[in-house]
Amino acid sequence: MHHPTIILGAGAAGLMAAAHAGPGTLVLDHAKAPGEKIRISGGGRCNFTNLYAGPENFLSENPHFAKSALARYTQWDFIDLVARHGIAYHEKTLGQLFCDGSAKEIIAMLLAEMEAAGADLRLNAPVAEVTKSPDGFAVILQSGERLACDRLVVATGGKSIPKMGATGFAYRVADQFGLRVTETRPALVPLTFGPDVLALTKPLAGVALPARVSCNGASFDEALLFTHRGLSGPSILQISSYWHETDSIRVNLLPDRDVLGALKAARAENGRRAVGTALAELLPNRLAAAWSEAQGLSGQLANTPDTQLSGIADGLADWELTPAGSEGYRTAEVTLGGIATEGLDSRTMQAKTVPGLYFIGEAVDVTGWLGGYNFQWAWSSGWACGTAI
Ligand code: FDA
Repeated sequence: MHHPTIILGAGAAGLMAAAHAGPGTLVLDHAKAPGEKIRISGGGRCNFTNLYAGPENFLSENPHFAKSALARYTQWDFIDLVARHGIAYHEKTLGQLFCDGSAKEIIAMLLAEMEAAGADLRLNAPVAEVTKSPDGFAVILQSGERLACDRLVVATGGKSIPKMGATGFAYRVADQFGLRVTETRPALVPLTFGPDVLALTKPLAGVALPARVSCNGASFDEALLFTHRGLSGPSILQISSYWHETDSIRVNLLPDRDVLGALKAARAENGRRAVGTALAELLPNRLAAAWSEAQGLSGQLANTPDTQLSGIADGLADWELTPAGSEGYRTAEVTLGGIATEGLDSRTMQAKTVPGLYFIGEAVDVTGWLGGYNFQWAWSSGWACGTAI
């Protein structure tokens, strides 16, 4: 059967494109339900965009590429859509917007928009292969069934969470049509550490505190969480997108405190107290105890001169540690990298050398920070493509 447009992938980007690509559009997905990542996102409440979303919140070989789509379909456009569908939402923190109820409302909204636009959805339809045909493209399903279309949109996402159906299929299609794919890596992912760091962090599993984590010129002030395998929490997930093997990261455990001033004041107030006791007023108790033990801080404040207090403050402000690795695609929220943007038209997402072939969403080398930015890219790139078709 011949369709004007076939969209591969009923995720965030594919559904958004389908709502704008015109009647007769067919969306194919190998999953048994559409928008599975939307459903589980944001702890089931979907952090669907960010009030402050802008091009600076995205990583790409070409930081300018995302600008056009992000400017033409903004977070305000998506917020309007959410409001028109009567979906209640709230800002959780740092501009992050979540549904009050359930992420399923966002999926229902996208399906309603898609249906109103005259597009059809076919699930349980794994795509095995696509080829160029004289009048467009052929899409061959794993069942052997052959579909045809004038325009083909690849919205099959990245490699993160293979258990949920992520395949890296888009990269294969890009490769087949001669489009370059950048190096891809798991991102927004917890970092793992070797035995030396784990000796300190493992017993602290579950402890969380606000921290500043920096690496390769990027810095994030968000929560840090100790885990059995190393470190996680928003600040670590954010920095994982900037970290490469062998790089060290720097952690400021008390970014908003004058630690030296606080320790001096504690000493003036009651010099008989142990240094660790004073630290417990600044840090979570378990961390203060573990840190004191690891650093050999067993003495009383009165016996701790300024130079030593200063060393303690510096150590807490600049804890340098080298991750052994990351938890990988098994838990990564996104794939960093993807289809190189030089091969795509930034207004339409169409491949420059293959008229009629489009790539959108996470498959493209545009990766957002944690906080609703990745969905915003899916909405913006999906809209740019859908309206151009
Ligand atoms: P997406 O992965 O959503 O969709 C791709 C679709 O293609 C899938 O439905 C898949 O089944 C299908 N497919 C793949 N290969 C196929 C094949 N060969 N044949 C047929 N179909 C195929 N972002 C954010 O902004 N806010 C948030 O709160 C979160 N939370 C979050 C939590 C978790 C646990 C994860 C893993 C990710 C997030 N994200 C997020 C990231 C966000 O989910 C992600 O960036 C978008 O879903 C990407 O949208 P796409 O449509 O590009 O891919």
